[in-house]
Amino acid sequence: MRTEDPRPIRLKDYTPPAFKVDEVRLEIELDPADTRVRSQLKMRRNAGTGPLVLDGEKLKLHEVSIDGVKLGPNAYQADGEHLTILDLPEGPFTLETLTSCAPEDNTALTGLYLSSGIYCTQCEAEGFRRIAYSLDRPDAMSVFTTRIVADAKAAPVLLSNGNPVAQGKLADGRHFAEWHDPFPKPTYLFALVAGDLVHVEDKFRTLSGREVTLRIFVERGNEDRCGYAMEALKRAMKWDEEAFGREYDLDIFMIVAVSAFNMGAMENKGLNVFNDKYILARPDTATDADYAAIEAIIAHEYFHNWTGNRITCRDWFQLCLKEGLTVFRDQEFTSDMRSRPVKRISDVRLLRAHQFTEDGGPLAHPVRPDSYIEINNFYTATVYEKGAELCRMIHTLAGPKRFRKGMDLYFERHDGEAATVENFLDALADGAKLDLAQFKRWYSQSGTPEVLASGRYDAARKTYTLKLSQVCAPTPGQPVKEPYHIPIALGLVGPDGRDIKLQLDGEEKPGATTRVLSLTEREATWRFRNVADKPVPSLLRGFTAPVKLSTNLKERDLVFLMAHDSDSFNRWEAAQRYATGLLIAMVDAQKKGGAPRKGTAFAETIRKLLVSKKTDPDFAAQMIVLPSEQTLAQAIGKDVDVDAIHAAREGLRASIAAQLKDELLAAYHALAIDGPYSPDAAHAGKRALRNACLAYLAVGPGPEGVELAAAQFAQADNMTDEIAALSVLAHIDCPERVAALEKFYARWKDNHLVMDKWLSIQAMSALPGTLGEVKRLTGHPAFTMRNPNKVRALITAFATMNQLRFHSADGKGYEFVADKVLELDALNPQVAARLLGAFKSWRQFEPKRRNAMARQLKRVAAGERLSRDVYEIASKTLG
Ligand code: TRP
Ligand code: ZN
Repeated sequence: MRTEDPRPIRLKDYTPPAFKVDEVRLEIELDPADTRVRSQLKMRRNAGTGPLVLDGEKLKLHEVSIDGVKLGPNAYQADGEHLTILDLPEGPFTLETLTSCAPEDNTALTGLYLSSGIYCTQCEAEGFRRIAYSLDRPDAMSVFTTRIVADAKAAPVLLSNGNPVAQGKLADGRHFAEWHDPFPKPTYLFALVAGDLVHVEDKFRTLSGREVTLRIFVERGNEDRCGYAMEALKRAMKWDEEAFGREYDLDIFMIVAVSAFNMGAMENKGLNVFNDKYILARPDTATDADYAAIEAIIAHEYFHNWTGNRITCRDWFQLCLKEGLTVFRDQEFTSDMRSRPVKRISDVRLLRAHQFTEDGGPLAHPVRPDSYIEINNFYTATVYEKGAELCRMIHTLAGPKRFRKGMDLYFERHDGEAATVENFLDALADGAKLDLAQFKRWYSQSGTPEVLASGRYDAARKTYTLKLSQVCAPTPGQPVKEPYHIPIALGLVGPDGRDIKLQLDGEEKPGATTRVLSLTEREATWRFRNVADKPVPSLLRGFTAPVKLSTNLKERDLVFLMAHDSDSFNRWEAAQRYATGLLIAMVDAQKKGGAPRKGTAFAETIRKLLVSKKTDPDFAAQMIVLPSEQTLAQAIGKDVDVDAIHAAREGLRASIAAQLKDELLAAYHALAIDGPYSPDAAHAGKRALRNACLAYLAVGPGPEGVELAAAQFAQADNMTDEIAALSVLAHIDCPERVAALEKFYARWKDNHLVMDKWLSIQAMSALPGTLGEVKRLTGHPAFTMRNPNKVRALITAFATMNQLRFHSADGKGYEFVADKVLELDALNPQVAARLLGAFKSWRQFEPKRRNAMARQLKRVAAGERLSRDVYEIASKTLG
């Protein structure tokens, strides 16, 4: 147990900083055990009359001076979190501190740390205070000049934000480099990287004709795996110019890839730092999914230069201002680079799996939270993914042209500022000429609204009446919700499978076939005229709002829509709804001993997709995969029995595989690609469909499936096909499985990123011995608790992607993960708290599992010397 409960920080308590820091000058002398930081802050009073309180953690303080005069020990106070100075000059002054920190002891990976011998920083959200005393808050923006001193052999490369201004040799084999960043920025965007790095270089000419140098720095030996990241960066730079009119602003843009990193990547000004998993790619080591993630994250961090850096956040409650908006921007980029419907489908899958779960459980919070204990716990699916959905809804309501006008105005008004959600909404409302007053509730109300739709066709009057209503269930601290402004795109599909031109009551003539209705009341009705025949409604096309939609559509309507809907997203949605209904019925039937269903209509849809030459393979791959076990658990919602879900889903898969054996085999062979690997969307789509066929074949009748998988594993010339075959085998208890896992290890044991895949595949196996294997692997040389990627590859994969085994009825899976949370908390609280998130939906399981989960949560909550991070998640999850 913690000795004292940490106090929450509240949005309503925001006050502007008492001091302004116009300039920061840093001189950092790197040493693993004793890095010396001399910091000069040029400051002046901004507001109030109080003392100067600077943030600082885990720092050894050697000296404090003001305007060059050293302060005596009574002139300041330093505790573990702050440096307080009472007596200050009236006018501007320079505060100098000399402190040290120990990067080699830093296992939390926030502040300055060592990653495989490379010095590297992570300052967001509050890591800078572990480097130097500072006003470590996003609304304190300064111009930084950074001088780095280090041993020239150990650290030949010395990098920081901005432009290089000086470098040279020093005595004793040391050298220095000085960087100057002319753009005022908050401390969280500061970065320093130093070490024995190599780089690849390219150039980019901006819209206005300036030439920018692009460099990607990696550990020696990885130079041959940066090409895709560099191409993706240039595509992102060009896209931001075209789509948003945003140009890059420094002469150099640098990216560094490191192997120890808490998150995906970080947008430090001019010096992005990446988890190397999202940079390094070669066809034989990276999958299509890796390539897609690299492209998206490179773009995301690059786009932050405008949405995050040029316009930053006033305080951390405004995090969605940069994250939601930047996710929306990277989603749009990917949609333009690849297939828009497939991107939308995978984003909605992700949203439902993570954000809807979060919003429906004890950790539900608004997109703009009103309080937090540890800000690192608020880099959530809600802030990122739902935050992006809110931007998307504004885009839907405004249309592309007016949205762009709104964004232009936002940049014009707030460039160089630390802004708020209100600033953003005002700019969008003014620029796009929208009324967003009611829409704003999306930012403050948590929970997923439910929309109920019912339609009625009047054959005599040729009208179709649609009634929509909304409710939102209570969430922690929010018993009552006001109605949301919900944009709902819809179409009406005629019996011939064609969209009907829509004409609402009071309109002169029919118009578009898809239109957006705004549901703003608790209930509203629309009537469409001149509807010749009874239509099937296609609602929430493109998933225009993050809501749960219930309709009175029948099974046959869903079968009709999955064959005919002109909106690809809704074709997929109809198929998923149909399959979900079927699977839930199968779960119920198991309990009551009824006969399982064969899923003939679903199999028929798959058959048509497989034989059709017209469907995009990438889209077909999305269509034929059944809803995941987690999705089904969520749809069932209470007293979930994971064994029953697994059995039903595997039963249906086997049934489909048996019905479609010939078509699956034919498609598998027809989709083989001749010629060299290319990561582009067209080729990736073929591989995705082919591997989805393989997964079915492996659970189908006869040995061919396993034989095919083993052959594909042996012959694959790219990691996508190699890993797809291995994942199929990993679920099947057969000699081919053992042989493939051994061979894979022998082939890739020196490649840490590929080893992560090897760990994950074993952690996700449905076989009964998986927990034992995972425990054994925690002692394997390929694993270490000190690297977040390893923890995520093995333990997080087991806890979040193996519903069957993590939730085993004996509670052993829970006990293991809770043990690891406690062990990890002493090393890396951020990653430990995230892992504990695996318990967040504990209330949805049947009593035995629910109680076992609660027991482990309580055990974690009672842990000694708990971090704020884990304390907050444990206590809030228990509720
Ligand atoms: N700002 C980063 C992004 O989304 C996220 C991030 C990287 C982060 N490292 C972090 C957040 C450490 C919290 C802590 O692009
Ligand atoms: Zn981001």
